[in-house]
Amino acid sequence: MSNSDSMSSHHQIARNMSVTIIVPQARNKGLGEKGALTNPVYHCRWNSNEPQDSVQVVRASVKDVRTGESVELDYVKQEKVGSGTFGTVYQAQLVEHNEVVAIKEVLQDNRYKNRELAILRTLDHPNVCVLRYYFYRHQADEKATKGPKKSGDKTSKTYLNLVMEYMPETLYSVSRLHAKSKQRQPMPPAIIKLYMYQLFRALAYTHTLGICHRDIKPQNLLLDPRTGVLKLCDFGSAKPLDPRESNVAYICSRYYRAPELIFGATTYTTAVDIWSAGCVMGELVSSRPLFPGTSSIDQLVEIIKVLGTPTKQQIAKMNPNYATQKLPQIEAKSLSKVFDSSTSHEALDLMARLLEYDPSKRITAIEAMVHPFFDELRSSPTLTSANASLASSPSASSADPSSSKASTPKTPLPNQHNTQDVQDTYVTPHDPPYPWPALFDFSKEELMIRPDLNSKLLPHHWDQHC
Ligand SMILES: Nc1ncnc2c1ncn2[C@@H]1O[C@H](COP(=O)(O)OP(=O)(O)OP(=O)(O)O)[C@@H](O)[C@H]1O
Ligand SMILES: [Mg+2]
Repeated sequence: MSNSDSMSSHHQIARNMSVTIIVPQARNKGLGEKGALTNPVYHCRWNSNEPQDSVQVVRASVKDVRTGESVELDYVKQEKVGSGTFGTVYQAQLVEHNEVVAIKEVLQDNRYKNRELAILRTLDHPNVCVLRYYFYRHQADEKATKGPKKSGDKTSKTYLNLVMEYMPETLYSVSRLHAKSKQRQPMPPAIIKLYMYQLFRALAYTHTLGICHRDIKPQNLLLDPRTGVLKLCDFGSAKPLDPRESNVAYICSRYYRAPELIFGATTYTTAVDIWSAGCVMGELVSSRPLFPGTSSIDQLVEIIKVLGTPTKQQIAKMNPNYATQKLPQIEAKSLSKVFDSSTSHEALDLMARLLEYDPSKRITAIEAMVHPFFDELRSSPTLTSANASLASSPSASSADPSSSKASTPKTPLPNQHNTQDVQDTYVTPHDPPYPWPALFDFSKEELMIRPDLNSKLLPHHWDQHC
């Protein structure tokens, strides 16, 4: 919808969406260089079956990320779905297409460089949350407008609003269901494979662009349990890493913080995300955080309790400038003792490769994707076919489909509708069949990351699908 035909579009909206605008305020005055909220709020009534609910429609002048055009967007703000260190995320409904989106509002603070918008605009991947529009909202700063004026007082605050596709769950919320379930029922291995694979696919893509996410954690992994799609979100800490530049070490949420960051490294690599991914996988396998440190230094203690004290050489690889301090001398445990005995050999092997002290020895994201742990995803056309229906049986969630016998998926996809018990979080046989998400629709760029791995990356039966 362009600015010029906004009035006729109003009528269009009213007709198409059964919305009656009650108090339209002044028309937008036109767009500046950046999209902006120029016409705050008007009221309307949804002409629904329900008795005339009054809802507030917000009109914002936004930039459409796909087309680069300035457009007007009418939306109804709904519930708050998240609030983090930097922003608040709301669910909202777009009036024009009756579509649900997520709007992340972040205060623009000149003291910190916000790279989220710039990075999100460049990303285009099935496992990265899509940024649709963005705009700026200016709000009078009451503190600054009251009281006596001092030089440098700001009279308004600016909020960047990122309008993104909406995803109903996070890996955090789904894994908590498992942790809280009656018998602490772990996430089925096939589902762990499905989600971890998509995380690595997102990381292989972002890392090949030189972008390090720096805050990989279950809360930043969005899920649509109906489709099984995982998408990486929250690029608020992300940065394109330049080996010639130093970076802050105090980054990444504690439980998932790579040891080189705890050792204060400032010239780290994208391997910090791989460590975090290893922590996420450990958490999914055991339904509890793998390294639950209570402080930055305790975080290191938690890691050492499992992986043993790092050697001098490993410390030098993490941070050559680290002034050696006495660390508790602890021997490494075998991961098979850390995790339940039902954990497959492949799962243990992959976690060991992700959780290497020496960042240069850590497996890369694309290497992780071809690890035998994920072979099950590639092994069966039924599982990989876009039209495959799920052989769904809630009881299968306790079986280990990673065993060689499992050639077809027995694990149903999680279902966000039921939250009473973990078995209810999976699609039941009474639900319509849902296809697994596309896992092998690689772009040319993805196939160029490590061409030598392409034969392993693409399932043998894949040719038949192309
Ligand atoms: N596109 C989305 N769809 C649905 N929910 C979302 C979406 N984006 C974010 N959320 C929810 O909002 C929460 C906070 O979003 P985000 O991580 O981007 O903000 P943040 O302020 O940077 O958070 P934090 O500092 O805690 O990492 C997410 O954990 C998730 O629960
Ligand atoms: Mg976050």
